[in-house]
Amino acid sequence: MQDTLPDDWPYWDLVMNTATRLARDYGFDRIDIPILEYTELFERGVGTASDVFVQKEMYTIAEPNGKDLSLRPEFTAGVTRAFLENGMGSWSQPVKLFMFGPIFRRERPQAGRYRQHSQFNAEIMGEMDPASDIEVMMLAMNLYRELGYRGLAFQLNSTGCRACRPAYVAKLSAYLRQFEDQLGDVDKERLAKNPLRVLDSKAPGMDELLADAPHLVDHLCDDCADHFGELRQLLDALDQRYTVNFRLVRGLDYYEKTVFEVWAEGIGAQAALCGGGRYDLSPEIGGHSVPSVGFGSGVERIILGLKEAGIEPPAAVEPPVLIAHFGGVTKVAATQLAFRLRHAGIGTWVAFASGRRSMKSQMREADKRAVRYVLVLGESEIEKGVIAVRPMQGGEQTIVDSTQIVTWLKEAGC
Ligand code: HAM
Repeated sequence: MQDTLPDDWPYWDLVMNTATRLARDYGFDRIDIPILEYTELFERGVGTASDVFVQKEMYTIAEPNGKDLSLRPEFTAGVTRAFLENGMGSWSQPVKLFMFGPIFRRERPQAGRYRQHSQFNAEIMGEMDPASDIEVMMLAMNLYRELGYRGLAFQLNSTGCRACRPAYVAKLSAYLRQFEDQLGDVDKERLAKNPLRVLDSKAPGMDELLADAPHLVDHLCDDCADHFGELRQLLDALDQRYTVNFRLVRGLDYYEKTVFEVWAEGIGAQAALCGGGRYDLSPEIGGHSVPSVGFGSGVERIILGLKEAGIEPPAAVEPPVLIAHFGGVTKVAATQLAFRLRHAGIGTWVAFASGRRSMKSQMREADKRAVRYVLVLGESEIEKGVIAVRPMQGGEQTIVDSTQIVTWLKEAGC
């Protein structure tokens, strides 16, 4: 878990503002949901065979009534609960929502993986058409493009549905069992609990071992095959680069049909900027069917990639004015002046340090903040009703009548 320091915020602003603008352009509305939900929601929604449960990643809080709460390990289950509880099934369909916020997973700490990370997440709920898969996929892709990423491509797969997946999983298990003694402990456990996840194994030798494994896309039912075919046609129509990756099986149980990631070149081991896909987990938590598709993208991970690619965010806007004073009555006048300028829309720094702060240290602050003007308020200026204005980017000091200061600064472009 980490602190987000002021120096990081220009990156966060860039990512969140770009994501918000694009999401709104694509017709998504913002929603916020609680950070805590009943643990049972995640058991049913995310699934007990998911990595989150198998690897005991949730932070759970025991409650006196026995209904434990957990810090959310992802957004999708909570959003589905919110959809049902707020009667969104009666809103105009589909419902398109986006959200930001912290996500908690007790993962093994490693580069680009944190126990608290922040996600930008978008969902289209109540729509089965593959065109909605494209909407969320392109929202993710165009976000990274606008931010300046290069070498972007979709990784795509279909995980089938309840009708066609079990027969495939049986075939895959039979294939994997031939090599059981060559599998590591993690993959042995996956083979027993969730054989699809073995496809995601990063263990050495797995490329060779999986070379002849059956591919799910060759075993889809007609419905899933049609969906996948139409999705590929739409991607081709939009000239999008994608790779059908039979090993793309995501760590959450709820996916059906489409699963995708966006990979970028040159961002090291954590090549996936986002992950998502299609699901219908409403029936798991007691609702009617709500076919949905969405993705989540880690903000920290996006920022890490921007830094590695040397992409700089626009510098934060600093106040253009600093008011220097000498303490005592001059501090009172400086405080009044600061709020007068701020009220007029002119960003202003003033040293509120108790006691005196030397003029030299105030000028150093002005330098550091790269302000355009320092307004000096000494006792003699106050007596005369004037302000000494020192331009910091060259030029002579000017004396300005204090009643005229707002007009003067505005005319100077502040
Ligand atoms: P996920 O793949 O588990 O999917 O996470 C989505 C994204 O969150 C990842 O691609 C990555 O950018 C970021 N992420 C995940 N774990 C970490 C971590 N420990 N540290 C830093 N970043 C991380 C989901 O969470 C699904 N709920 C996405 C979704 C929405 N599917 C459908 N709708």
